[in-house]
Amino acid sequence: MNLTLMELNKIKENFNLWQTATSHRIVVCAGTGCLVNGSLKVYEEFQKCIPKSGLDVIVELKGEDKGVHVSKSGCQGFCQIGPLVTILPEGIFYRSVKPKDVEDIVETTIKKGQLVHRLLYIEPGTKKVCKGTDEIPFYQKQRRFVLNNCGVIDPEDIREYIARGGYHASGDGV
Ligand code: FES
Repeated sequence: MNLTLMELNKIKENFNLWQTATSHRIVVCAGTGCLVNGSLKVYEEFQKCIPKSGLDVIVELKGEDKGVHVSKSGCQGFCQIGPLVTILPEGIFYRSVKPKDVEDIVETTIKKGQLVHRLLYIEPGTKKVCKGTDEIPFYQKQRRFVLNNCGVIDPEDIREYIARGGYHASGDGV
């Protein structure tokens, strides 16, 4: 596939616009560890549960739709407490999520904007309850470079890589 820099920029612009039109994004970890622990069933359950709750589910961004975008990600980095689910834009981080938890996440977090406390990470030493990865010491000690987008973008949608500047370096070099 040959794309001009202008075409890359158009993909980037559209994808980012469409992403901001959604109300939430639910990112289900589909790295190996979480897959083994059943994250695909969690992903499928979100696709069933969101429409049942009266909301529109979006599995592929194609326009300025207002629904809830459900996507997979690569490894989110804390495999031993998976399956992991991140809710954006709030950055809420849920661990050990099972299909039976999905309805509660949709009703409590997506619809009411509240936390499902039993799914939050608790730091073993301090017993601190952490809402997002920015509060978890395991993540606070990390600084990612090459894998900066791993665990965030959908590895099955090349447009998201482009939307984060992918392939643009070749254009910059011309
Ligand atoms: S596979 Fe999900 S956190 Fe690593």
